[in-house]
Parts: sequence; structure tokens; C-alpha cells
Amino acid sequence: MNFITEATVKAVKHLYNTDITAADINLQETRKEFEGQVTIVTFPFTKFSKKSPEQTGNEIGEFIQNDLKEVSAFNVIKGFLNLSITDAYWIDQLYNDILSKGFAVAKPNGKKVMVEYSSPNTNKPLHLGHVRNNLLGFSVAEILAAAGYEVVKSNLVNDRGIHICKSMLAWQRFGEGETPESTGIKGDHLVGKYYVIFDKEYKKQIEELKAAGQTEDEAKKNAPIIKEAQEMLQQWEAGNEAVISLWKTMNTWVYTGFAETYRKLGVTFDKFYYESDTYLLGKDIVDEGLEKGIFFKKDDGSVWIDLTSEGLDEKLVLRSDGTSVYMTQDMGTAQLKYNDYHMDKSIYVVGNEQDYHFKVLFTILKKLGKDGADGLYHLSYGMVDLPSGKMKSREGTVVDADDLMEEMEQKAKEQTEAKGKINEFGDEEKQQLFHMIGMGALKYFLLKVDPKKRLLFDPAESVELEGHTGPFIQYTHARIKSVLRKAKITNNNVAVDKLAAEELDLILTLTQFPAIIQTAAEGYSPAIIANYVYELAKTYNKFYQVCPIIQVEDEAVKQFRLQLSAASGKVINKAMKLLGIEVPERM
Ligand code: ARG
Repeated sequence: MNFITEATVKAVKHLYNTDITAADINLQETRKEFEGQVTIVTFPFTKFSKKSPEQTGNEIGEFIQNDLKEVSAFNVIKGFLNLSITDAYWIDQLYNDILSKGFAVAKPNGKKVMVEYSSPNTNKPLHLGHVRNNLLGFSVAEILAAAGYEVVKSNLVNDRGIHICKSMLAWQRFGEGETPESTGIKGDHLVGKYYVIFDKEYKKQIEELKAAGQTEDEAKKNAPIIKEAQEMLQQWEAGNEAVISLWKTMNTWVYTGFAETYRKLGVTFDKFYYESDTYLLGKDIVDEGLEKGIFFKKDDGSVWIDLTSEGLDEKLVLRSDGTSVYMTQDMGTAQLKYNDYHMDKSIYVVGNEQDYHFKVLFTILKKLGKDGADGLYHLSYGMVDLPSGKMKSREGTVVDADDLMEEMEQKAKEQTEAKGKINEFGDEEKQQLFHMIGMGALKYFLLKVDPKKRLLFDPAESVELEGHTGPFIQYTHARIKSVLRKAKITNNNVAVDKLAAEELDLILTLTQFPAIIQTAAEGYSPAIIANYVYELAKTYNKFYQVCPIIQVEDEAVKQFRLQLSAASGKVINKAMKLLGIEVPERM
């Protein structure tokens, strides 16, 4: 609040003949147990006043109250000066700041940021871990855009390598020409099915070789099927037409499947990168690093970087046979991204099992003095578990993203039908509502938790209407819309003389939204938005319980409360959008 800062500067100058700046002033929200809304920490000013904190607070308070018509009273608790701001000021904020200025759309800040997220492998469908990734990435991108950034959402698809060759080989061997069309199986699921079949056959062969006297390690290396997959990868790299053609066909199946999953998840991308285009990149950066003496070559010809002085270890950046490793590719891809967009920041949304990889990658790029290296950030997140047990990959017991979304819709359906408030809904409207609630439950539950934390997803709890859930907030929005359908806003700028405590609380909460967006953007944290919108919904509900709207006699009060309701509905809607969650008109 600039005007309070300015008045404080003036007060200190006038009272103690000392020049201070805005940076010297610590403004806080007044704690709930005290009178007032804005608190100035006055301890630091005792230096100039040479008086007790209480006396200093009283002097500054008196000065500010006389100076500012917006300040109606003050009180001093120890070194804290609590200011009461007039109702008229808050009412003005509601109309002129919240309602008319488009609800906290920040001005463009002239900065560009890329958010890479999702980045799946094309050998199997998306699972619960990807769901957290996709929701985080999409939400962070929305938050950054709302905070004023120009945002590019990118997806680096790992479409080549041994993993997809495994699926291809198993399909060739056991598939009997199956296609998504012939089986009715979604493309990514069909390819995933053959990945699992490969793994079964591979395990079987390992057992056979072990029975014939080979060690585990030998058996793993010598199993014919793994050798064939490796050969297939070589043929792919050599451009073998039949292999390339099968690869294209199966990847196309997968992309059709992914597109469907992305659509249901409600996530979008501006730019796709494919590893088949980028896997050879990065080798020139290896040369550059050798020239600059940042990398070194071992006797076998492999190239390394020594990061022991950084508390890391020696890291391979190119194999002895001249082929790339993951690090090589990521160095090249980082360069490619920068050349394409010249962004100020580049975010990688990737699970915490890759923390070390990104630490090393960013260190290398900084040492090389690459443009944009200072703007690199790994948005790392923890595993997601289900109450029924840990998610496993490979064994075919992963929690599939499509299945999970369907289950959520089903849960939303059961719950909504049990409440029986949607009898007049048409079938299509019902279906949309179930999807909205199911996805709202899932998204909210995953996003309200700090990304770093491992999380236990409880589907039943997530869909509950009471509690810290998405549906609770969606329900609050529907309640507001219902109020606004029953009584119409006819006066757009009506003032009341005195605000009820619940009305003031609600306006205060609403005015925090722009600052909340900035804080969430700085911390790349959808959880901050999630917790804010929960507080807002609770604050609205308290207002709704205590302050009658439709039944109130005084027309001005009624109109004012309708405006307040409309503003709350819009901020809830906007905040939930930042989480990728839709809110219903009726529920
Ligand atoms: N496809 C990789 C995986 O599934 C993730 C890629 C992350 N992005 C990156 N630039 N390395 O593990």
C-alpha cells in the first residue's frame, strides 16, 4: 500500500527529521486478534525517535491519521502500529480495483519463460506420476502468465531409444497385426501392452539362461530378445526403412492416445521437441567444453567433467565410442530451446529422481557461460502414492492416467447423485459436471501440496464436498452463482455506510489476489494459489452464513452484497483456472 508507505516516510521526516525510504518500512497484514488491517513495524524507528516503541508508534500513528483520510483509527501494541482503514476505502477497492480492473491480470513484465513439462516416453501410456507432472507444469505456466510473463509451454517427447524398440519388437513378434482400430484399444495403451509383453518374454529368457548355468548378469546381457532390440535400435539409427516405418506407425498410435489424455487433463503445449530430432545435438558443445578446458578426455576417448570442487563428482558427457548420453542431449536441447526463444527463464518440470542430473546440467551450462544459463530452474517434485500401495512402473501395475480419470468421474457421479440436487440436469450437462468435479477433485488434491513433498493421493477424500478439496470450492462457486440467479444486480456502484466484519474480511481477502499471484509465480507454487482460494471460499461461506443477501430489506445493502458475491465468484473462478480447474454454474 504505497500511500501508507509514503505517509510513514513523511512522518519520520517530520517527527524525527530523518530521511528513510520505502525499503526501510515493514508493512504487514494486521493479525486477526487486533483492531485494524495494516500494521507498521515501528521498532526500527526508535533509533531516530530515541523514545520507547509505544511512544514512537503513537506519534507516528497520530501523524498518519491526521495526514491520511483513509486512516480512521490506530492502536499500538508494543512496537507494532495497527492502522484501521476506512470502510469507504475498502468499498472503493472492491469497485475500482477488484471488479473493474479485470481481476488481477498483471501488466506484461517484458520477460519470457519456457516451462517444459510432461516430456513422456512413447513406449507406454501416462501414469499417476505424469499426472502430477502435467498438472504442475500447466498450472505453473498459467500462474507465470497471470504474473505478467510471456510463457512458452514445451514438451520434450522421448520418441526414440531402446524402450520404444522393445515395444516394436514385441509387437512384430507377437502382435499378429493388431492396431488400435482392429482392437479398439487406445494407441498408447496398445503400445504399452507390447512393452509389458516384451518384458515378460525377456524375463522368461533370463530364467532359461540361468537354468542353463549363466549368472544373472550374463543372462540379462545374452537373452536373445534384448539383443534383437539393441540391433533394432542400430537399424533405426542407420535409417533402415522397415524399422523407421514401424516406428512411425507405432509412435503415431501413441500420439493419438496422448492427445486424448492431454485433452481430458486439460493441458496444452505451444511447442513439441522430439528426441529423434535432438539426440545428436550437444556434441559440438562437448567440443566447445574441451577447447575451453572445462571438459577432459580420458584414455579411452570418453569425455568427462570434473565437478568435485562443486561437491559433485566426475560426470560423463560423451561415451568412448563417441555416442551421446542423456547429459549430452540435454546440453544440446537447452541450446536449441534458447536459440528458438531467447527466454529469460527456462523451467524443467521433472521428478526428483533426476535432481542430480539437473544440478550437473545447470552447472555445466553455467561453466560454459551459455546464454540463459542463469535462468535455468528444475521444478522438482516428489512421488505420488495411492493408499493401496506404492505405484510401480514396468510391472504393468502402474496407476494408469486414463483409468484414474475415469474413476474420478465415477466417484463424482456417485457422490453427486447421492446428494440429489441435479435432477433437472440434462444427460450431457450431467456428464460435463461429473467430469468437472472428478477432475477438480484430482487436480486440487495434487496441487494443494508443495511440489517437493511426496504425496498420498486419496481419491475418496479428494472428492468430498466438505473439507480442503476442489469440490468444496467448486460448490462455493455454484452457491454464489445460485444467489446471483435469484437476485439481480441492478446498481453497479452502490456504497454502504458500515461494513460488517465478514464483509470487510471478504474484501481484504479479495484484494490479496494480485500479490498472491506474484508470490506463487516467484515460488513456482500452485499450492499458494490452492490454499488462497480455499481461504477465500471459506471466507465467502462465513459471510454467506452471517450476512443475509436475498432476504435483506435494505436494497443498497442487498446490492452491495450481490456485488461482493459476484467479485468472490470471479476471483474463485480465476484462481481455479490458474490451477487448471473449471468451476460449475450449478452443482
Ligand atoms: N523423458 C524423460 C523421462 O521420462 C524426462 C525428460 C525430462 N526433460 C529433460 N529435458 N531432460 O525420464
